[in-house]
Formats: sequence, C-alpha cells, structure tokens
Amino acid sequence: MFSKPKVIRIFIRTSTGSGAYSTGTNHGFEWSWVCTVEKPLDKLFDKFLQGQAIFKDRNALRPTYVPDELPYRDDQMSRIGSILGPALRGAPPSNILCYGKTGTGKTVVARYVLSLLVEKARKSGVIAPLTAYVNCRIVGTNYRVLRKLCEDIDARMRDGSEVPFTGLPTDEIRSIFKKRLDQQTSIMVVVLDEVDSLVKRDVGQGNDILYSLTRMNGELTNSRISIIGISNDLKFKEMLDPRVLSTLGEEEVIFAPYNAVELRGILQQRVEIAFNSEAIGDEGVINLVGALAAQEHGDARRALDLLRTAGELAERRGDNAITQEHVREAQKVIERDTITEAVKTLPMQSKAVLFSVFALANKGKRDIFTGECFNVYAEIAKSLSIDTLTQRRVSDLISELDMLGLINTTVISKGRYGRTKKIRLAVSKRQIGAILDEDVRLTKIASNLMDEHELVP
Ligand SMILES: Nc1ncnc2c1ncn2[C@@H]1O[C@H](COP(=O)(O)OP(=O)(O)OP(=O)(O)O)[C@@H](O)[C@H]1O
Ligand SMILES: [Mg+2]
Repeated sequence: MFSKPKVIRIFIRTSTGSGAYSTGTNHGFEWSWVCTVEKPLDKLFDKFLQGQAIFKDRNALRPTYVPDELPYRDDQMSRIGSILGPALRGAPPSNILCYGKTGTGKTVVARYVLSLLVEKARKSGVIAPLTAYVNCRIVGTNYRVLRKLCEDIDARMRDGSEVPFTGLPTDEIRSIFKKRLDQQTSIMVVVLDEVDSLVKRDVGQGNDILYSLTRMNGELTNSRISIIGISNDLKFKEMLDPRVLSTLGEEEVIFAPYNAVELRGILQQRVEIAFNSEAIGDEGVINLVGALAAQEHGDARRALDLLRTAGELAERRGDNAITQEHVREAQKVIERDTITEAVKTLPMQSKAVLFSVFALANKGKRDIFTGECFNVYAEIAKSLSIDTLTQRRVSDLISELDMLGLINTTVISKGRYGRTKKIRLAVSKRQIGAILDEDVRLTKIASNLMDEHELVP
C-alpha cells in the first residue's frame, strides 16, 4: 500500500543527451533527471506511522474510560457495594455522599459499582435497578438535572413528546419524573456527580433540588430513589441545608489521595492497555510520572494525563519510545495549559485582582502587601467600569487566587496594627502577562497603567 514512489524526480530536457543520469528519450528529446526532491508530507506521515509504535489504545487514557479493575479502591467499592446491595432485593439503599480531592477515583468507582450492580441483577434474573448518572457541573441547572433524569427513564410529556429543554416549571418536570418512576416499580440509583456545583451556583435552589429528590421516597408508592452525591469540595457540606445533609449524607465514603506507589500501580495497569510493549522501555518513566503526580496531591487523572501527553510528544517527534525527557516536557505543557485555563476562566473581578498583582510585580516589586494590591485593583476596577469591591472581599479573592496556585500569600503580623498578607506571583510574569493580554479590556487598561505609572520597567 505504501509502494508509491517517495520522491519526485525533476527532469530537464537535454538536447545532446548523454550523461550518467540519462533516462531515455521521449518525443524525440532526451531527458535527464537532475535532482530528487522528497515529497514534503511524506516524511511527516512516516513519523505518524512510526508513532503508532507508541499507542496501542489511546482511548484507555481518556477520562471516561472505565478499566476492568480499580486497584486501591477495594474499601470504597465494598462500602458502596454493601450500601447499594439491598437494591438487588428490591429494598431502597441509603443515600451516599462521596468525598475526596480531584482525581481520587470517585467518578470511576461510582460508575464501576453501578454497572456491576446492574450486571449482577441481570445475571441473577432479578429486576435490575434503574440507574442514572448526571454530572451536575456540565448539566448546569436544576431544570436540566431533572430533564436528564426524565430522559434516562423515558419520562415524557402527556402528549408523548420529550420533556422540552426549557420552559416547564420545575415542579411540573419533577412530577412527570416521579409519575413515570412510580409506574416502573423499581429502585432507581441516581449519581449526582460534582453535586457541589448546584449549590455553589445558587445555594437556595441547589438545596431545593437536593431536598426535593431526597424526600421523594415519601411521595412514591411503588418505586424508591436513592442518591449518590459526589463532591471534591470538602467544604461543600457546610453549604448544605441541615435537612438535606441529614438525608443525603446518611452514609459517607471518603476517597483519600493516592500515594506515589499507588499511582505507579494505576499507571502500570493502564500502560499495558494503552501502549505498545516497546513504548515504555525505561522503567524510570512510570516512576517519574507517579512521583510528579504524587506531588500534585495524588491525582490519578493528572498522572494519566501526564503519561498521555508524554506519549503524544514522543509520537509527534517520531520517537519510538517515551523517555523521561518527554515526561518532563509533558509536565511543562500541562502546567502551562492548567494555568492558562485557570486564568482565562476567572471572573472579571478576580482577573482585576490578579492583574493588580501582576502590574506591581512587573514594576519590580517582589513582595506585595494587600493594601498596595487593593489600591491598584481599585484603579483597575474604575477603568473597567466594574464595582469596586471592599478590601475584605478583595482579600477573599486573593485567597482564592492562592488556592488556584496563581499567587503565593503569607500572612504576616504587624503587631498591634493587625495582620496583612504578603503576596507574590506564583507563575511567571511573562505567562500571566500573555494570557491577560488576550483580554481586550485588560490590555487597554494595561497600556494606560503603564503610561501613567511606568509599571513596566
Ligand atoms: N483506582 C484506580 N484504578 C485505575 N484508574 C483509576 C483509579 N482511580 C482513578 N483512576 C483513573 O483516574 C482518573 C480520574 O479518576 P476520577 O475521574 O474517578 O476522579 P474523581 O475523583 O472523580 O475526580 P474529580 O473530583 O476531579 O471529578 C480516571 O481516568 C480514572 O479512570
Ligand atoms: Mg469526578
């Protein structure tokens, strides 16, 4: 299939002919080729063909992939399994709240246990529980959560049409769902993943939907519903109405971060599925990925992303194996992307605060105090025509930026004058500058600030 010539030969017509390169006659003239030009894309495509030596099944590294086994999560799986077990006998399981930092396996464990539960029911000839998985952050609103639940059990409008994307009162869509669920005489297990996002968007409404779902059992005659809420925000419980917390948090399952050894085990399992055997010759590669991800609070997603990105870098360069150098470079790529994403998605007020830190740092200040930051922020807010927040609120935003890893803050005591924060940029000025520069509104202000205050050396 690749037997086509890889070169284009350029011929010139030579009147006299002759020479070692003479290649014959045509139309009475003699033709000679004088040089060989490689087709430009050929080499590139060759590299991609070689690149296949790296990946065997790239999908195995995607976040949605559920492997056959989940090492180091036996405790969590058996806890959830024993809570959901009664569903196999038609009894309603307790609600569960799953907690743990990002990348600790909450989503994958919930999906895994649910699919095994359904499979077990089918194999044993008992009625399989109905299941639904909703990512509340992606789905977005209470209405859409309910709509997704309707879709999963085929709950329809009275005229047989699908529940519309918008427009019904929430109460109505809830009662369509409830009615259909009760007709099916089943246990339904609903996973509400990233459930904190509902409450963060609107504390009142978020609590309302959780309250109404957790209390639905009292209104159902034949069926029962049970909720698995998942969150990576450990403070989320504080935002829950005590009545919601008492029912949703009947059972709690905690997911601790993975350590470097566990991350290596998870990587090893995935390597065998995702990569060709020669792609990772150097054992140090897995160790390095595990160690780097363990530094990042034991996030398995980060570890897998790192390995995938390293593989892609190796592939793009036409290398046959992943090296530690690819891993280190992949780490830089991911960090850059994470920071860019974090800055781009900041609300305008936080951007203005970050920009004030950036402007002061650019002016040559290493340690910036909250008061100075506030003064520059106030000026920026005025130029942006946004509300100027109080110093206290700005201080909260500074803490959030610290949590995102964009700045570092240290609290210092000023004796009887109270306490203040010392702020430093945690990422390179150049990178933050480049990202903020993409924001047209900030770019304008930047140039004004620079003119007025000579903020840039
Ligand atoms: N024990 C494990 N064995 C194999 N793969 C795992 C394990 N734990 C997590 N993973 C993988 O790590 C990645 C992240 O896991 P998961 O999405 O479940 O994290 P999470 O706790 O839900 O994170 P977040 O809070 O950010 O949503 C997934 O690709 C998942 O397949
Ligand atoms: Mg998750």
